[in-house]
Amino acid sequence: MKILVTGGLGFIGSHTVVELLENNYEVVVIDNLYNSNISVLDRIEKITGKEFSFYEEDVCDEEALEKIFCENKIDAVIHFAGYKAVGESVQKPIMYYENNLVSTLHLCKKMIEHNCFNLIFSSSATVYGNPEVLPITEECRVGGTTNPYGTTKLMIERILKDICISNPKFHVIALRYFNPIGAHESGLIGEVPNGIPNNLMPYIVRVASGELEVLSVFGDDYDTPDGTGVRDYIHVVDLAKGHLKALEKISELDGIHYYNLGTGVGYSVLDLVHAFEKVNGVSVPYKIVDRREGDIASCYADASLALQELGWKAEKSLQDMMRDSYYFILKEKDNN
Ligand code: UFG
Repeated sequence: MKILVTGGLGFIGSHTVVELLENNYEVVVIDNLYNSNISVLDRIEKITGKEFSFYEEDVCDEEALEKIFCENKIDAVIHFAGYKAVGESVQKPIMYYENNLVSTLHLCKKMIEHNCFNLIFSSSATVYGNPEVLPITEECRVGGTTNPYGTTKLMIERILKDICISNPKFHVIALRYFNPIGAHESGLIGEVPNGIPNNLMPYIVRVASGELEVLSVFGDDYDTPDGTGVRDYIHVVDLAKGHLKALEKISELDGIHYYNLGTGVGYSVLDLVHAFEKVNGVSVPYKIVDRREGDIASCYADASLALQELGWKAEKSLQDMMRDSYYFILKEKDNN
């Protein structure tokens, strides 16, 4: 089976390409390198000992997509490509709506023109907004997103649903990720944010490695066990494996299906800091500061539907996530 992976050199994309190659899928990647690096290509080949086709193109570019679909008989698409920085999306909403929506529309159009009807979409727990109940099931109301990035995920899910209604041959699985962290155990691929990180884990590793001085913990007065925000952190390799399970099932399912990919367990900011210190034997200085605007107190998944219907379950521990995140950043530093 030949799989087109958009954004295949990015954080989650690259780990998914590794899993695909290791499971003998043929892989075609399209990535414009906006938020990724070409060195990831060699690293994926080094990990897997396998090669794949690569197009340095933009998914918004219809002609580029046409060329890819003409040159390759694609059986399914995994669509990761998109802008993903929450804060930037508030500053640049037009850029976010244009890029994330136009790319998906062009992709779906080309898929249908080329008789490719299986799409796995990289969605997010952000579509639930401020959750009504915990743990969050797929039945929970979606909406109430607090930034344009999150709204693009919600709008894309809606667009895909309409495409499925209009064309019964079209199958979609939208995977709603919780908080992906960690890195491949080889230390060759991982998360490389541009500039100063916004997310917790990339920030912790940079404080631990001495690149940044102190972690700001955004609020300790939430209604959570220790007052700091609680999230469902999931190892990126577990997440990548979820895409393979979705691929195996997609042609059996009609229309659009949504699955939460999380562990089902919530950890607080301080849980993460302390686990990181213990596993890696380093200290992570932190200070408590005001809450960050738009943050919610707690968010964690009920991931039982993915287990029942896809046969997928997160297997890696919090310790694995802490160890692999740090190993990657230390190895990166060595290489630079
Ligand atoms: N946090 C800090 N200090 C930091 C960074 C984060 O205390 O420097 C806290 C946040 O307040 C929150 C927790 O750490 O309680 C996690 O924050 P992240 O920024 O790592 O993750 P979010 O849950 O805010 O956002 C993530 C993804 C988004 C996605 C969202 C909902 O980054 O893309 O989950 O699914 F939209």
